Amino acid sequence: MKFNPRTHTCGELREKHIGENIVLNGWVDTRRDLGGVIFIEMRDRYGITQIVFEPGYNQDTHHLAKDLRSEFVISIEGKVRKRPEGTENPQMATGMVDVMVDKLIVLNTAKTPPFQIKDDVEISEDVRLKYRYLDLRRPKVQKNLLLRHKLNQVVRKYFDENSFVEVETPVLMKSTPEGARDFLVPSRLHKGKFYALPQSPQQYKQILMVAGLDRYFQIVKCFRDEDLRADRQPEFTQIDVEMSFVDKEDIFKIVEGLMQKLFKEMLDYNLPESLPRLTFDEAMEKYGSDKPDLRFELEMINLNDVFADSDFRVYKEAINKGGVVTGLVARGCGEYTRNQLDVLTDYVKKLGASGLIWIRVKEDGLDSPTVKFLSEPEQKNLIAKLNTKAGDLILILAGARLKTLSIMGSLRLEMARRLDLIKNGRKIAMLWVTDFPLLEWDEETKRYYAMHHPFTSPRIEDVELMKTDPGKVKARAYDLVLNGNEIAGGSIRIHNAELQSLMFKTLGISEEEAEVKFGFLMNAFKYGAPPHGGIAFGVDRLAMLIAGENSIREVIAFPKTAAAVSLMDDSPSNVSEEQLKELHIKVR
Ligand code: AMO
Repeated sequence: MKFNPRTHTCGELREKHIGENIVLNGWVDTRRDLGGVIFIEMRDRYGITQIVFEPGYNQDTHHLAKDLRSEFVISIEGKVRKRPEGTENPQMATGMVDVMVDKLIVLNTAKTPPFQIKDDVEISEDVRLKYRYLDLRRPKVQKNLLLRHKLNQVVRKYFDENSFVEVETPVLMKSTPEGARDFLVPSRLHKGKFYALPQSPQQYKQILMVAGLDRYFQIVKCFRDEDLRADRQPEFTQIDVEMSFVDKEDIFKIVEGLMQKLFKEMLDYNLPESLPRLTFDEAMEKYGSDKPDLRFELEMINLNDVFADSDFRVYKEAINKGGVVTGLVARGCGEYTRNQLDVLTDYVKKLGASGLIWIRVKEDGLDSPTVKFLSEPEQKNLIAKLNTKAGDLILILAGARLKTLSIMGSLRLEMARRLDLIKNGRKIAMLWVTDFPLLEWDEETKRYYAMHHPFTSPRIEDVELMKTDPGKVKARAYDLVLNGNEIAGGSIRIHNAELQSLMFKTLGISEEEAEVKFGFLMNAFKYGAPPHGGIAFGVDRLAMLIAGENSIREVIAFPKTAAAVSLMDDSPSNVSEEQLKELHIKVR
């Protein structure tokens, strides 16, 4: 079918085009047949334009237009006119004009779509994902893809201007433990052997530093076979960065520059010159999270001092065992009913707390079943420390330190939701969290694991501690946090073979095992590795937050479901016996 290239997009026509002969190509969005006149809203990526078929204007096209249905693909030629008085639509960018059609070519018909192609219609996510090509026609979803496109452009330009080199690293690599489970790819040529898909290009980017690339970045797909959540996908995108001859401060500066640029260009928002910082310990104590949401205050307060000599068994036990008593004041919630307090208690119990202590602050003192266990000075000190007033509600948890702080952190978020603090708080709260513990103790396997990855450097002043009290060692690791989400994480790396071998030893990784798993990196380090460090951003999360969405699936063109399935192409799927045989694989 012969058709002409468009002269304008469907989002372009304005009053200044009145009288012009134009060509539009696009889809039938909606159709209104008013007996005599047929109005079609014609859509493409750029917008919607009303086109008009009138028998008195052109009988042939009017006749043809009777068969048009939603999502037909058409090309039209016609004349732009001012809409008749009273029919203008100021909500629409093109709403002052419409097009009288002289020629209509139907380029393709379409089945009736399973849902209307417009924003703000209720569609189950499964149906959206199955018909993603139709879902992606909706303006809101397209807007998210364009936003992501822009984000990538800003990032590439910024790094290019700062002398970074974008290097592509392999997608088929050696399986190396990095935290999550690997996706494996069987080798046809090497029976019984497997490639792994990279969980991140971590080792490659460090090797690029050994190779002298000095400043590297890459917008890169990463793959992790882990349980999915709203902010996790099995394949996701990182902005991956590594730099040589740097310390933490140099990396912070580059990252802060990028964030300023990005937020200015994407949201016209001015981030502060340098971002606030909290150490991991501070973040846990005050906000009960290593990714604290600082859009609102609501700080937790350590009450160990107040109850240091308490006779109340719950506090005494927690403190004696090296644990914590932590409090939170819900301002103005002193009238919460027993029922409401039971709901909060259930909330923390589900997270593993043994119970929740609540105290209503009244004009004449504290009101709670637990007050009788507290001495007069304890009650006074509690009120002073928490700076409470009549009408407040005090919430207290006691127990093992990190677990208790983290449960209180969840309760903090829950109270913020109930009190509308998030909605009424700051729009954007970005900060660094630093000084993470280097290692995490695992009770089940009775060994330490690297909290970040095994190449993360301990703080120089803590190196000796690694031999005596590894649990206390802090890492030169940092996360960037935005509105309660971890959007990036990185560290200064170990570049010295001796320290690396001490790290492996602390992790219980034998020399042989290290050689098998990381030999290539360790070998590279023997040939002059510069001091280096880096960071990686989760692009999906960043785009989600900039777009104001609640799920990263909204900013990914073809995401997987929470069950790691692609409903559109039905993967993962069965493969033929032949394929399996070639790969030396038998499925049992
Ligand atoms: P990390 O594992 O912290 O660091 O990952 C960096 C960032 O990637 C995002 N992210 C994810 N996004 C979506 N789905 C997932 N499954 C997922 N997993 C992680 C997060 C996270 O902050 N190699 C190191 C970086 C370094 O040390 O330089 C790394 O990958 O936003």
